[in-house]
Amino acid sequence: MVDKKTGGAGLRGQVAGKSAICTVAQGHSGLTYFGYEVDDLADNCDFEEVAYLLFTGELPNAAQLADYKARLKKQMDIPTELKAVLELIPKDAHPMDVLRTGVSMLGNLETETDFSQGRDKADRLIATLPGILCYWYRFSHDGVRIDLNTGEDTVAGHFLHLLHGEAPNDLHRQVMQVSLILYAEHEFNASTFTARVCASTLSDFHSCITAAIGSLRGPLHGGANEAAMALIEKWSSPDEAEREILGMLERKEKIMGFGHAVYTESDPRNAIIKKWSEKLASNVGDTTLYPVSVRCEEVMWREKKLFCNADFFHASAYHFMGIPSKLFTPIFVMSRTTGWAAHVFEQRVDNRIIRPNAEYVGPGPRKVTAIGSRT
Ligand code: COA
Repeated sequence: MVDKKTGGAGLRGQVAGKSAICTVAQGHSGLTYFGYEVDDLADNCDFEEVAYLLFTGELPNAAQLADYKARLKKQMDIPTELKAVLELIPKDAHPMDVLRTGVSMLGNLETETDFSQGRDKADRLIATLPGILCYWYRFSHDGVRIDLNTGEDTVAGHFLHLLHGEAPNDLHRQVMQVSLILYAEHEFNASTFTARVCASTLSDFHSCITAAIGSLRGPLHGGANEAAMALIEKWSSPDEAEREILGMLERKEKIMGFGHAVYTESDPRNAIIKKWSEKLASNVGDTTLYPVSVRCEEVMWREKKLFCNADFFHASAYHFMGIPSKLFTPIFVMSRTTGWAAHVFEQRVDNRIIRPNAEYVGPGPRKVTAIGSRT
């Protein structure tokens, strides 16, 4: 019988290329970015340090970090033409589609015409993604044209400030930093692989990122945090959650935010975001959502040995920070753009077009018959 984790469909367990960026569940090293454990980065760094690490292979010193933050801060506003496009997108559009369009439009306005511009294009995108998202969100939902110059010098602070129209508190700032670090990179996941396939055709930077956003959108990948929220917010007590989860398992339904294509016993990002979700729950006086989430975790492990992935406790954490559910997956984009970009650059350094074969299982050779004689 084929082992689902190492063989069979979905290229599971296949090595599809070399990378020096990230380890995932390899040996005892767990999830690392250029050799640094993700816990260590989440405890000690800002997202901008991690972005710098992913682009250069090294953490910045204090001067380099200050320069980098200043460079991002200077380019957080977006072109007028892009604002005009965002104003045309309806309120009920999915924000992932908004980001896909926003990145694509920026690619028309600020096209990468030479690969030497790649790093600048990546920085520009990291600086502008919160603005693209929040400009559309606030215009379509509240009818306001927000100023994208918040004065914040971190992506985390800038995003929360734009969304809520005021500077975030320290706890929210910190949780958003951690969240962006946890989501930044994850080896050859579906969206990163999409970006690398696109890069391998020698396509431009914005096309690679647009393609990756399309991949991340699905509920089996990045969309799981929003889908998990839709699930847990329906339940008003842990007991109700347990009953419903048991019913769903009985009906063989998927519980979003659980399981993983690579990890077999736990996702190293879960304990980190769970801890912050608990802190936020106590901060807002929650007595429902966090206990419901914990019960889901217990039941899934007890019944199926399935564990929470990075997305599950992100749902409650984001909710406690007043972030609307449909913006959950776009936050993943703001973060993972760093990982996607790092992989695009790595692919370009030693490129060969990615073009696997298919095992053919269709009909045998046959001849075209005259149209009138076909049944
Ligand atoms: N809820 C219920 N059952 C699940 C499950 C979930 N979240 N995740 C896996 N399973 C079941 C599968 O249906 C399968 O059952 P089967 O053997 O009876 O067919 C079994 O567990 C093993 O699945 P596995 O091979 O480990 O999954 P995969 O590698 O094909 O897929 C995911 C991995 C992540 C796509 C899958 O776990 C999933 O769909 N999770 C929910 C979506 C999600 O949270 N995605 C974010 C990932 S970071």
